[in-house]
Amino acid sequence: MPPIDTSPEIVEITQKLVSTIVSIEEASFLKPWTESMISGSVKQDHVFAIRQNENYLGYIAYTTVLDSAELLRIAVLPSFQKKGFGSKLMNALIRDCSKKGVKQIFLEVRQSNLEAIELYKKFGFETLGVRERYYRTQNGYEDALTMCKEI
Ligand SMILES: CC(C)(COP(=O)(O)OP(=O)(O)OC[C@H]1O[C@@H](n2cnc3c(N)ncnc32)[C@H](O)[C@@H]1OP(=O)(O)O)[C@@H](O)C(=O)NCCC(=O)NCCS
Repeated sequence: MPPIDTSPEIVEITQKLVSTIVSIEEASFLKPWTESMISGSVKQDHVFAIRQNENYLGYIAYTTVLDSAELLRIAVLPSFQKKGFGSKLMNALIRDCSKKGVKQIFLEVRQSNLEAIELYKKFGFETLGVRERYYRTQNGYEDALTMCKEI
């Protein structure tokens, strides 16, 4: 009998789950974060995953300084994208930031990453400006949009 779908839940990532995040990174990015980068982020930042039926489908990492936060990373496994899991992670970020008294959330995103830009706009992020040649690509550089949401 196939497993009955349970509701997805948001869980905090500990060092034990770093390899799970490595798999999500490798499936989601051309330049994935390495195990040591993720391990460092788990130590210093806030890292949450979305889990359903014991499977980890995506994750989000952010950091806070005083009353500002920066979204560092968000990813959903390709075969689970466009099903609302990214939105659940964004809701968890905003909920957690408001609990911590964060007033503004900042992020940088590749100008070509239309899926992510649409997601951020849907959650009320507005473009503050462009950082030229911010990302290194295979053929040169790509600009970043800096976006911000007031809470
Ligand atoms: C960006 C990402 C996290 C979105 O996750 P997701 O689970 O697909 O998001 P959701 O299903 O909750 O979609 C929420 C909104 O995102 C936008 N979106 C998601 N996929 C999109 C696509 N293929 N095209 C256009 N907009 C899209 C839409 O606004 C969507 O709202 P809608 O369903 O009402 O149209 C996912 O595409 C991803 O992991 N991408 C690779 C990693 C990445 O680039 N991360 C961002 C930089 S760190």
